Amino acid sequence: MAKTIIVSNRLPVSLRHKNNKFEFKPSAGGLATGLGSIYKEGENIWIGWPGNDVEDPEQRAEIILELHELKMAPVFLNKKDIEEFYEGFSNETLWPAFHYFTQYINYDENHWNAYVRVNEKFCEAILKKANPDDTIWVHDYQLLLLPQMLREKLPQATIAFFQHIPFPSYEIIRMLPWRKEILEGMCGSDLLGFHTYDDMRHFLSAVGRLLGLSSESGYIQADNRIINVDSFPMGIDYDKFAKAAKSKKTQNLVKKYRDTLGKQKLLLTIDRLDYSKGIPQRITAFDTLLKQHPEFHGKVSMIMVVVPSRAKVKSYIELKEEIDTLVGRINSNYSTLNWVPVHYFYRSFPFEELSAFYNLSDIALVTPLRDGMNLVCKEFVASKTDQKGVLILSEMAGASKELQEAILVNPNDMSGVANAIKEALSMKEKEQVQRMTSMQESLKRYDIFQWVKVFMDRLSHVKQKQSELMSKEVDAEVMAELHRVFLEAKRPIIFLDYDGTLVGFKSRPEDAYPDEELKTIVEGLSEKAQVVIISGRDKETLGRWFKGQKVDMIAEHGVWLKTRNDKTWQAYAEVDNDWKPDIQQVMEYYVMRTPGAFIEEKHHSLVWHYRKVESGLGDLRMRELFSHLKYMARGHNLQVLEGNMVLEIKRPDINKGRAASAFMKDEEFDFILAIGDDWTDEDTFKAMPKKAFTIRVGYSYTQANYNIKSPKEVRYLLKKLI
Ligand code: UDP
Ligand code: G6P
Repeated sequence: MAKTIIVSNRLPVSLRHKNNKFEFKPSAGGLATGLGSIYKEGENIWIGWPGNDVEDPEQRAEIILELHELKMAPVFLNKKDIEEFYEGFSNETLWPAFHYFTQYINYDENHWNAYVRVNEKFCEAILKKANPDDTIWVHDYQLLLLPQMLREKLPQATIAFFQHIPFPSYEIIRMLPWRKEILEGMCGSDLLGFHTYDDMRHFLSAVGRLLGLSSESGYIQADNRIINVDSFPMGIDYDKFAKAAKSKKTQNLVKKYRDTLGKQKLLLTIDRLDYSKGIPQRITAFDTLLKQHPEFHGKVSMIMVVVPSRAKVKSYIELKEEIDTLVGRINSNYSTLNWVPVHYFYRSFPFEELSAFYNLSDIALVTPLRDGMNLVCKEFVASKTDQKGVLILSEMAGASKELQEAILVNPNDMSGVANAIKEALSMKEKEQVQRMTSMQESLKRYDIFQWVKVFMDRLSHVKQKQSELMSKEVDAEVMAELHRVFLEAKRPIIFLDYDGTLVGFKSRPEDAYPDEELKTIVEGLSEKAQVVIISGRDKETLGRWFKGQKVDMIAEHGVWLKTRNDKTWQAYAEVDNDWKPDIQQVMEYYVMRTPGAFIEEKHHSLVWHYRKVESGLGDLRMRELFSHLKYMARGHNLQVLEGNMVLEIKRPDINKGRAASAFMKDEEFDFILAIGDDWTDEDTFKAMPKKAFTIRVGYSYTQANYNIKSPKEVRYLLKKLI
């Protein structure tokens, strides 16, 4: 049976050296708990770095055995890996870049090479355990290349990826010299998850701009399959925190701390030592409050837990010094014999003590400058069993999208944060309860278990969707059948769309003229079959491009026809152009506002092109124009259609399907093949008799019987027929 493999840089346990021996410390993290329901089942396993370097082969063997018992397998990193891959590329390049701290980005080719090398190490470790049809769920920014590495070795596997940190705007990603490799690496997945809609939209935009892969409703059209991208805001183990808060152990600690601290109001902050968390800014905001409001002196204290993290990275070392100085300053300025403004702890705490801090504090001040999600704020909310307490939360944390009842602040706005603290200190209990209850309801419903379930369900859905599309792939069997019927046929006909079917798209439409290979193919086919080029192109262009060839041509989606024997074009449909000036005027207005856009006039339609427009702007203007034209179309009885980087407005009774049917009405054909790549070709497919072979280029949903990857494969198929 297929199994599931979880992969993350760190295993959910960490290895500690103790008196020349080692021991494992289990992680109490939410992710480990949530994924427990997966990796502890059956043959499933979690693969990752045990969090320390081990050189001795005997010790390594022992560790492997122990981890095996825990349903885990280690990837050992040596000192160089830790320096260059973990501290280096992961935490000196990707971490600052993805959190918008461009000033800290280290561009180091050696670190990049180490990143590739260690991702390969992970890949090898997984390959030792994985079967071809297993599910592999890769986590976070340390392993961005892994999905594609795995895809190459295990093309049939189900591969998912979740990014726990933000995905920044294209403007940041493009700064990295290795941006393409990174995005390609991620695109080895079938499903990519992010915490927020903004993260996913940034990712889709980067993939569109840097890899040229288009997407629609979160589905990326990759070379040979669709990839789904979606947002899945991660939850916490809600019940665990809610229960712990009420437990005897926690309540004893709460009482003990309260006895020491007295009646003063408590502000809680808990973070890893990280510049993304905005710790200095927060101390400054508290300082501002104390400066502006002496009435709070002696009445409010801050409990500040800073957990040591990445202590060898320069920017972290500097941050530690900055925090020490700021805390020293505020405490020396304001402390009295029985009051200290900031209780500062540079260490981590066991779960019960954290639970007591959460339960005890009146206000949680969670003000990261940038955070993928932030779990601390959720844990605080879950621990407030009497619903009393106030959460002040940064707009820059992913969690702010869900926790709208918090007091939301811009963490860079010191006086704004100081005011928020003041507001929180004076908030009436009734309002506190109202806000807290509402946040608790949402966190309870969408906890970590629900997050895992929703993600896994989505993954199955994507695979299902892929396999529906793949079942229609033109494979060797279909090819053979096509060939057989073609050989036997006495009167074969082939309808071929042009752009996107016989040739790929070019940024200037006039550059997509037929090359020698295409001319030879058409010539070869027309020896035996009636070849009909059925295109949206204007008749002049088609006529020029296929001059002298033995083909029939249907131009402008069915307005014009020219058979191989005709000297001139004949109108298939009556053309009424009275509507054009009005519409053209509107389109021109959108051309003026959109550098790169242009209008193409066809006999029966007007087309607004935006392929050359800055991406994003093009989509935006197209949407505006679309609704504008739809409104106008009603009055003129016209149809507005969205195509590949174009918007076309035309008469609805003219389409390729009608033209193709009319073309075949007087004759019996014993082999019919129609190939096309967009919605205009769907009309052709619909109009074809049952026995026809209909093929859509690309992996979109279609009325055609089959899908084929690209114009390259179309040409291959046509050559085979010849
Ligand atoms: N945490 C912990 N021990 C501590 C302080 C914090 O285990 O002494 C946990 C905390 O409960 C939370 C996690 O560390 O689950 C921090 O996660 P968050 O998403 O807030 O920030 P990250 O460190 O992932 O950037
Ligand atoms: C964030 C990242 C995790 C990382 C954790 C601790 O939550 O998203 O991938 O494991 O920080 O950082 P560390 O460098 O100690 O693994």
